[in-house]
Amino acid sequence: MTYTSSTVRVPDVAAVPRHIAIIMDGNGRWATQRRLPRVAGHTRGVDAVRATVESCARQGVEFVTLFAFSSENWRRPTDEVSFLMRLFVTALEREVGKLHANGIRLRVVGDTSMFDDRIRALIQRAETKTARNTRLTLTIAANYGGRWDVMQAAKKLAEQSVQEGRVVPVDEAAFEQHLAMAYAPEPDLFIRTGGEQRISNFLLWQMAYTELYFTDTYWPDFDAEALARAIESYAERERRFGRTSAQLEPQSQKADTLSC
Ligand code: FPP
Repeated sequence: MTYTSSTVRVPDVAAVPRHIAIIMDGNGRWATQRRLPRVAGHTRGVDAVRATVESCARQGVEFVTLFAFSSENWRRPTDEVSFLMRLFVTALEREVGKLHANGIRLRVVGDTSMFDDRIRALIQRAETKTARNTRLTLTIAANYGGRWDVMQAAKKLAEQSVQEGRVVPVDEAAFEQHLAMAYAPEPDLFIRTGGEQRISNFLLWQMAYTELYFTDTYWPDFDAEALARAIESYAERERRFGRTSAQLEPQSQKADTLSC
């Protein structure tokens, strides 16, 4: 299934977001505050991932996308990078059965060519096992970058032109089908924990009309209540997609306003 871009057609919106994208920040600070090594925060971060995914599934969120490792995270100390890779492998090995039992489809997006063969094989097995699940799609962005995604989609379009021996028309629909997450609607809600207020090269193309929510809570402390607060804030937003407030009022209300 493909989804039309929010700049082409106004999407349907509901009080509960269909797609939530999250930057899970603050693991290191959570650990440092407790005089623990930074990586202890990442370990606790996995518990917060589990709680968040469970809570989203219960509330009917259809897509959850987590920024687990950015293209820029390779710049971290080698020990921390290795730890994150091991944690990813362990989480894949331990959690996939539970995800599958709960009807959750797992996808991994990003430049996985940088990962070793064992990780790539695990990813492949996990994606295949859960491919037919429909309750919720959990996407892990690993070695992902928004600019990488836009560039790889542009390259694929160019390759298509070469293969077909003609310049294929370039429009949003043609472009989007090559994005790594072409299977998902654009995120309705973006959450970043840890107090920073930036997008950090996450889903740059797809977040054109995403509602942004920032919280000081460190990721390991992010729980069902914290998620409920984010969704509450989202439900109060007026999503206009370029229109005016008056255009969003139901017809009957508009008539009332006019007759007053
Ligand atoms: C940012 O916190 C977090 C990361 C770069 C890694 C996130 C990884 C996990 C939560 C665990 C693995 C996840 C899965 C899906 C298996 P930070 O280290 O930048 O924290 P800081 O800003 O306090 O230093």
